[in-house]
Amino acid sequence: MPTVLILGAGSDMAIAIARQFAGEKYDIQLAARNADSLHALQQDLQIRHHIKASTYAFDATDFSSHPAFYEALPVKPDVTICVFGYLGDQEKAQSDWKEATRIINTNYTGAVSILNYVADDYAARGNGTIIGISSVAGERGRQSNYIYGSAKAGFTAYLSGLRNRLFHKGVHVLSVQPGFVYTRMTENLPLPPLLTAQPQQVAVSVYKAAKGKKNVVYTKWFWRYIMLIIKNVPEGIFKKLKL
Ligand SMILES: NC(=O)c1ccc[n+]([C@@H]2O[C@H](COP(=O)([O-])OP(=O)(O)OC[C@H]3O[C@@H](n4cnc5c(N)ncnc54)[C@H](OP(=O)(O)O)[C@@H]3O)[C@@H](O)[C@H]2O)c1
Repeated sequence: MPTVLILGAGSDMAIAIARQFAGEKYDIQLAARNADSLHALQQDLQIRHHIKASTYAFDATDFSSHPAFYEALPVKPDVTICVFGYLGDQEKAQSDWKEATRIINTNYTGAVSILNYVADDYAARGNGTIIGISSVAGERGRQSNYIYGSAKAGFTAYLSGLRNRLFHKGVHVLSVQPGFVYTRMTENLPLPPLLTAQPQQVAVSVYKAAKGKKNVVYTKWFWRYIMLIIKNVPEGIFKKLKL
């Protein structure tokens, strides 16, 4: 049975993705800072889907632990999905370096650190799929979240370069660009219902895009066109907007 590793497995989006892949008969490796918190999900996946599920401790910002974490996995995953992220507090991060580095290290540096090891392993094996959950926030900086957005922009560019490198080794890299999604991250934000996806919709689109060997998927699909418009607003106008 194929195995999928989910990094940042405790989030609403990750849980939906785990359920989707388990339903497709993948064994599931769940990794999060607090591995104990994953046991109920692990049990549920095993009982409901008759697959093997396991849990691991993983901290995206503990970079030096990443090689040992990956080495210690009893089965090397066929698919690795990087879901963890941290929205943080933009205003605080403007003057508090600790908050700024937490946002940068969680969304960018931590992802690069762990995926570099996964990428080398997949390149050597000549197969595998790497999926990164980035964000449309990385497509144009806005005053309300440009530290998070710039970290996601870096992650999106990293995934693009990784795809270009690993294509020649038979490894598939999928970039996921969600718009708004109803999760713990956004529970205090007033989100427009028409533009906002449920975690389950993200999970289905991630699975289908991985199966179809797509390069980039937007959830919901029309975010591709919303971002096309936003990216084409002239800078002279864009800088005057309160976004
Ligand atoms: N929600 C949206 O509208 C939206 C839109 C675009 C992109 N995204 C992206 O989608 C992904 C999932 O986000 P979500 O909306 O489901 O948010 P969430 O509920 O806040 O989940 C974030 C997850 O990241 C984990 N995490 C944070 N720091 C970590 C670290 N140092 N090491 C390991 N795990 C860490 C958290 O783990 P703990 O459980 O330990 O806190 C949590 O499970 C993120 O990459 C986010 O940036 C979300």
